[in-house]
Amino acid sequence: MKLIKIVGGNTLHGQIHIGGAKNSAVALIPAAILATGVSKLYNVPNISDRDALFDIMKELNVDVKMEDSVVTIDSTNIENKTISEFLSKRLRASYYFMGILLGKYKHVEMYFPGGCNIGSRPIDLHLKGFEALGATITHIEDTHKYILDAEKLTGAHIKLDFASVGATINIMFAASLAEGTTVIENAAKEIEIVNIADFLNKMGAKITGAGTSEITIEGVKELKPTQIEVMPDRIEAGTYLIMGALLGDNLEVCGIDPSHITALLDKLKEMGVNYQIKENSIIINKTADLKAINVTSLVYPGFPTDLGQPMSVLLTQAKGVSLFEETIWENRMQHVEYLNKMGANIVLKDNAHALITGPTKLKGAPINATDLRGGAALVTAGLIAEGTTTVSNIEYILRGYENIINKLKNAGANIEIIETEE
Ligand code: UD1
Repeated sequence: MKLIKIVGGNTLHGQIHIGGAKNSAVALIPAAILATGVSKLYNVPNISDRDALFDIMKELNVDVKMEDSVVTIDSTNIENKTISEFLSKRLRASYYFMGILLGKYKHVEMYFPGGCNIGSRPIDLHLKGFEALGATITHIEDTHKYILDAEKLTGAHIKLDFASVGATINIMFAASLAEGTTVIENAAKEIEIVNIADFLNKMGAKITGAGTSEITIEGVKELKPTQIEVMPDRIEAGTYLIMGALLGDNLEVCGIDPSHITALLDKLKEMGVNYQIKENSIIINKTADLKAINVTSLVYPGFPTDLGQPMSVLLTQAKGVSLFEETIWENRMQHVEYLNKMGANIVLKDNAHALITGPTKLKGAPINATDLRGGAALVTAGLIAEGTTTVSNIEYILRGYENIINKLKNAGANIEIIETEE
């Protein structure tokens, strides 16, 4: 079994370079097959979710080559086969193949997507969107296989009940190759959606309004291969900034767009964290006398749910009682048990509200990553704890944080991956 071993207490200094955004890349990679031919993606992060998507592409007879952070995708010989159950379930973002293959072939066969266990994670909004465009959906109950079929797709006015990131992007994919105009009302405004709409527009799609709550997609007959750069990962950046607020000695988090993380920066300021914003980087320092605050996760541009768990570790070091409230996912407090085991004082009111009293000294312990961002939170806790922490289930963390061990080691952390017998 592989574990992350951390000996806590080291300061973090120098530069940490941020990679391409996971949530953008996991949509851009499959989107390349909307066109037939050779597409190129730059700044693709080296994460295991990327590899899981490559395996699905290979199953569809798409040729994928990776050189450093450049991915070349050749879909010339693509075959619209069933995506196997194993691969469908390896990650949540496999759902993007639904919108893409439906748009391109008007037929998709795959299974219910997987992903971290942070709530029930339904896909009803995606499916309702596809139905509005004219698809018929067959769900085979016992295996959770989905078959989507359409004679043709026709543009429609779709109002999302919730501004779902995945549903917005998936409907954009299918609608790009529908006949006529689709309007998505109450669309998600996450900045990654702009990156994806840019890629589709470069391919020849006609999408306006991405990044606002109303997106209009005028369907086109076909899309052509092109190139795009994956935007910087605001969640990876935010995670290292939180680590920097705890341990930074002029730590510089580089290669980012600070305007994407305004909600986090506002909260750090409210706590009294000392940071300096530059054009494409932020320099951050460990701050004494952090103030307790309230943090509520919201859709973009609100405080990102994906930074709530790392933020909860920072709150354990603030003076007073902080409230950490999660409003997007049902099950994002699983890491709290382990923080308390390390010495934190966190009282869960329910699955969505935690009262965090600080500051508390944390002590190293054997702990278990419960999900991707919860895992990053526990690594953060290990970095500030006294003594040695070992984190198990590290595959969750490697799904979304490229090269996390080396990035932290180079910044001064005492962290490594060790192998133990089961
Ligand atoms: C994306 C991100 C994830 C982030 C989330 C919210 C990717 C690959 N993942 O996930 O990191 O935490 O946005 O910012 O981009 N919902 C439904 N029905 C649906 C779809 C969603 O009820 O059909 C609900 C979900 O249960 C959840 C909420 O809507 O409560 C948000 O989900 P959504 O925005 O769709 O998240 P994802 O796109 O899956």
